[in-house]
Amino acid sequence: MLPEEFSNTLIKWQKESGRNNLPWQVTDPYKRWVSEIMLQQTQVATVIEYYERFMRRFPTVQSLAQASEDELMQYWSGLGYYSRARNMLRSAKIIVQDNQGVFPQKRLDWEKLPGVGRSTAAAVVAFSFGEKETILDGNVKRVLMRIYGIEAPSDDKEVTKHLWELAESLLPDHDLPRYIQGLMDLGATVCARKPKCDVCPFANCCEAKRQEKQNEIPLPKKRLSRSQKEWTFLLLWNDDGCLLQKRSEQGVWRGLYSLPSVDGDLSEEEVMETLKGWNVKIRNVQRLESFPHDFSHFRLILHPFAIHVSDDVTATKANTRWVRLKELPDIGMPAPIRSLLERFFA
Ligand code: ADE
Repeated sequence: MLPEEFSNTLIKWQKESGRNNLPWQVTDPYKRWVSEIMLQQTQVATVIEYYERFMRRFPTVQSLAQASEDELMQYWSGLGYYSRARNMLRSAKIIVQDNQGVFPQKRLDWEKLPGVGRSTAAAVVAFSFGEKETILDGNVKRVLMRIYGIEAPSDDKEVTKHLWELAESLLPDHDLPRYIQGLMDLGATVCARKPKCDVCPFANCCEAKRQEKQNEIPLPKKRLSRSQKEWTFLLLWNDDGCLLQKRSEQGVWRGLYSLPSVDGDLSEEEVMETLKGWNVKIRNVQRLESFPHDFSHFRLILHPFAIHVSDDVTATKANTRWVRLKELPDIGMPAPIRSLLERFFA
């Protein structure tokens, strides 16, 4: 297929069948940047609400640059991958303080900002300034690998290098924003993991389809067995509220409020032992149901204990604070901890 054939088909399809009512479909680079960061690991349907709430509170890069990390986390809480938010705050400060609030116009300058990789940078400059730059995320890789019949796992290094070159060679000289949006839309809605070839504009020239291999391409990634960790979480509570602990600036959930936790799957006796010296009067200890949470690099099994303490609690652990139930929705915390608290206090 000639490059013009590919891009013309995609542009025409996007106009007729793509997504054209997303709230970030404007040329403002701030809105484009924020939305692309949110969309990095999260689906459109989830992002829309977060994006709109975020834009109401932080309508400009200047307002974002002045945010505290705690407040920013309130607006990110539940989206996961919190380093995205921390990197955005750092980038906003760089743009405001070092660049007088002016956004870069070129992909390579965007890539100098923390948390902005090539694909994100390309999307921002293509959408905001019509720059001739291609994206290549997991969806786009799948589209290209199927159409061109490339039988490999999508994380193969050599294949990825080839796909960047292929994607660049396909770029049109016109309608860049619509073309890039078309790549995203086709991968997300038609050439999805389960492909809908009956509505695909490339059905009659797709190599995977011709060989009936559209369900096999891309090949499965080589599996690294994910390591597993187990932590015990201590939910100290009374009718007033519960005890939260701000996580350190290292490790997972950096800077978010969580429950105090200790390494391992503790017995009730070990929990009681741990609580000695915490300055709390314990009324009752109850083991709650354990549940998993997957990080990209390991699976965490959470073992929660609910510890009913007396009302005159004065817990004296580092970085903890007693939080009233009605304050909980306003505190930035990891999604699995929030859902644990919601279930417990329901
Ligand atoms: N995924 C990543 N960026 C996107 C965008 N701008 N629109 C829809 N889905 C996306």
